[in-house]
Amino acid sequence: VTTVFFNGQYIDRSEAHVSVDDRGFVFGDGVYEVIRSYGGHLFALDEHLARLSYGLRQLSISGVNAESFRDVAVKLLAANALSNADATVYIQVTRGVAPRRHWFPDLTTPPTTYAAAARIIKRGDAGEGITAIPVPDMRWARCDIKSLNILANCLAMQRARDEGGTDAILIKDGVALEGAAASLFGVFDGHVRTAPLTNQILPGITRQVALQLCREAEIPVAERVIFEHELPLADELFLAGTTVEIMPITQVGTHVVGRGQPGPVTQRLGALFAGLTKPASVDQPPVPSTR
Ligand SMILES: Cc1ncc(COP(=O)(O)O)c(C=O)c1O
Repeated sequence: VTTVFFNGQYIDRSEAHVSVDDRGFVFGDGVYEVIRSYGGHLFALDEHLARLSYGLRQLSISGVNAESFRDVAVKLLAANALSNADATVYIQVTRGVAPRRHWFPDLTTPPTTYAAAARIIKRGDAGEGITAIPVPDMRWARCDIKSLNILANCLAMQRARDEGGTDAILIKDGVALEGAAASLFGVFDGHVRTAPLTNQILPGITRQVALQLCREAEIPVAERVIFEHELPLADELFLAGTTVEIMPITQVGTHVVGRGQPGPVTQRLGALFAGLTKPASVDQPPVPSTR
């Protein structure tokens, strides 16, 4: 049995039913978040809730406070005996249930809220690295919003998988913007680089943490685009994201990155990141166990 949060209540997953008129179902009209917990400590919870709040504001979805999910996330971990586990908390808010019209329904329409906690499913092995496949970026012009509408990301990820990769590198106008579900970093002559924050990428929380770690460790770092033609020139490439953490890319298509192994800067950042996610050093208090 799994307990989920649905429209204000904690219920069994099998009891949570979404209306066919839900705008999330019909239009993908909503936003989501994925938060990691390490041994019950929710990592960068403030930042995730701030991004959720931003997305809700950008989409003019009112009637729900992103902050309310702070308590929900903690309760879900406890209710599902995940207070001592490595887990993810998924949060989703849609504009709610209304007859199918493109324009917004009445402001009194309550948003649909959903959250669930689950044990972490690892994607790739940071000790080995992954293969990434460059794929044209077919997304819309507001990638800064963590919208439910991620069909283009799904298509890119599937294409990468079909071509033997683990993730995609989204290419727009000759620029390597990000992965299908993670931020992209490169290392060029000891300098770390990632795309600047624009409407074309998600403001990744792990991206921000990785940038901060670089600055603290005095690793030269810049928020400057990585061009597609520079990918073969990178000494190292890696993805940064809530679920993949710091994930070395050791191959781009058929091209081997560096020596085909996780590089020294990536490994160093991975170790520094692991230091942050150890329960003793994160800012959230431990979640009390239900057992
Ligand atoms: C397109 C995209 N970029 C970047 C990220 C990484 O963001 P975060 O580090 O906040 O998980 C994600 C996460 O799902 C994503 O979907």
